[in-house]
Amino acid sequence: MQLRDNFLWGGSIAAHQCEGAWNVSGKGPAIMDFVTVGSVDHPREITKTIEPHKMYPSHTGIDFYSRYEEDIQLFAEMGFKALRLSIDWSRIFPKGDEETPNEEGLQFYSDVIDTLLKYQIEPIVTLYHFEMPIHLVHAYGSWTNRKVIDFYLHFCEVLFERFKDRVTYWVTFNEMNHIDPQTEATDIFTYIIAGLKFSELENKAQTLATIGYNMTLASCKAIELGHKINPHFKMGCVFGIEPVYPYNCSPDYVMNAFQQMDRDFYQIDAMCHGTFPQYKLAEYQAQGIEIEVTTEDRQAFTNGTLDFIGMNYYGSSVAEFEGTDAEKSKLFGGLANPYLEKSNWGWTIDPVGLRYLLNYTYRKYGLPIMITENGLGAEDVLAEDGSIQDDYRIDYLRQHLIQMKKAIEEDHVDCLGYLMWGPIDLVSATTGEMKKRYGFIHVDKYDDGSGDYHRTKKASFNWYQEVIASNGKCL
Ligand code: BG6
Repeated sequence: MQLRDNFLWGGSIAAHQCEGAWNVSGKGPAIMDFVTVGSVDHPREITKTIEPHKMYPSHTGIDFYSRYEEDIQLFAEMGFKALRLSIDWSRIFPKGDEETPNEEGLQFYSDVIDTLLKYQIEPIVTLYHFEMPIHLVHAYGSWTNRKVIDFYLHFCEVLFERFKDRVTYWVTFNEMNHIDPQTEATDIFTYIIAGLKFSELENKAQTLATIGYNMTLASCKAIELGHKINPHFKMGCVFGIEPVYPYNCSPDYVMNAFQQMDRDFYQIDAMCHGTFPQYKLAEYQAQGIEIEVTTEDRQAFTNGTLDFIGMNYYGSSVAEFEGTDAEKSKLFGGLANPYLEKSNWGWTIDPVGLRYLLNYTYRKYGLPIMITENGLGAEDVLAEDGSIQDDYRIDYLRQHLIQMKKAIEEDHVDCLGYLMWGPIDLVSATTGEMKKRYGFIHVDKYDDGSGDYHRTKKASFNWYQEVIASNGKCL
């Protein structure tokens, strides 16, 4: 099998990481607006209010809100066929529970989508990429409350109706799988997904299981609704998945690794098999966790199955095992893998893991897969003449694309496209830094707040342009 002629080459961005303009044109405060800048050694701080002398990177982002035309023009110059972007819920419904949407917010996304279409770039719209109006957390308890599912569906309906003739690809959620009752989650993971700090949750296992269930249900209901509004919609959900390897070949270690990796799949099982997995409900029951599955829920699971699976891939991990004294990764947990190098932020670099994961997922579900994120966060250095020679980024992407091609051409995985994460430098989700750059395009913005936001093409810009022009032949 070859890469499709209409292979969706492009990139992915998220509203809170690039737009800025956090409190203009009717936008309400959203969960990420309360998270300060951090670094690889200092976790981002989550504050209850906006504190005057603290830096909140989402407030300014990379000023995509006013510069989107220039940015989309640069994406078009690289030959992008698709751009995955998210719509910030708090721009459309500032508090989240209103009946009537904020027209200025809708108009902004309408203009962005029209600009993409002008350059023949397919918009792939994510409906929830960590952008929940904070009011829904304070007044309703976020995704622990089923009412929030209804507010989310109302938000989806408004967008489906407004953009039904201009948008075909929709993503219901980004990485809901990071909510996991069995993982010792750091505050940032539960917060970015649900606006709640892990350390402050009272009944952790029950709360996280409820959130995971309600979000899965919300995704299925949104898919059902989307298909009703336009049967041609291609509805997907994005998962951030790492293959989890055993530390050695002892069967106990292998079993343990399987169990750790499998935890990330129960929601995909629900969304592909049309029923919330019985094994998960039994597991919950054994742990004293209560989940009510109503008749209406069952109907939604049956009717709301996915058209494609979105996959965010950055690296792999090694399962933790009691008694092993190998070094642990700070952010994600898991043991160090002596066979792999790491980025400066401690993320493993494992191109073969991408081929493995594509095969694993495709054979499990048989649905088309879209690579919705992949990339290297690195510190770029501006040469005296202002150029940026980011060979390390080219090398990372090339190695991953080689493995993606093997998965498609040799293993026959049906892959719809490759959307590189952060084609333009943007705010890091986990650390809030600008220093951790992913882009083909450099943005003059720094963590001390300085910079005039001007854009500069890096060496990787021309490289990706050639990759796309050759449909992946020239790597
Ligand atoms: C993904 C998220 O998990 O990882 C993105 O969907 C995020 O929002 C990306 O930016 C990379 O993480 P980071 O922390 O390097 O920005």
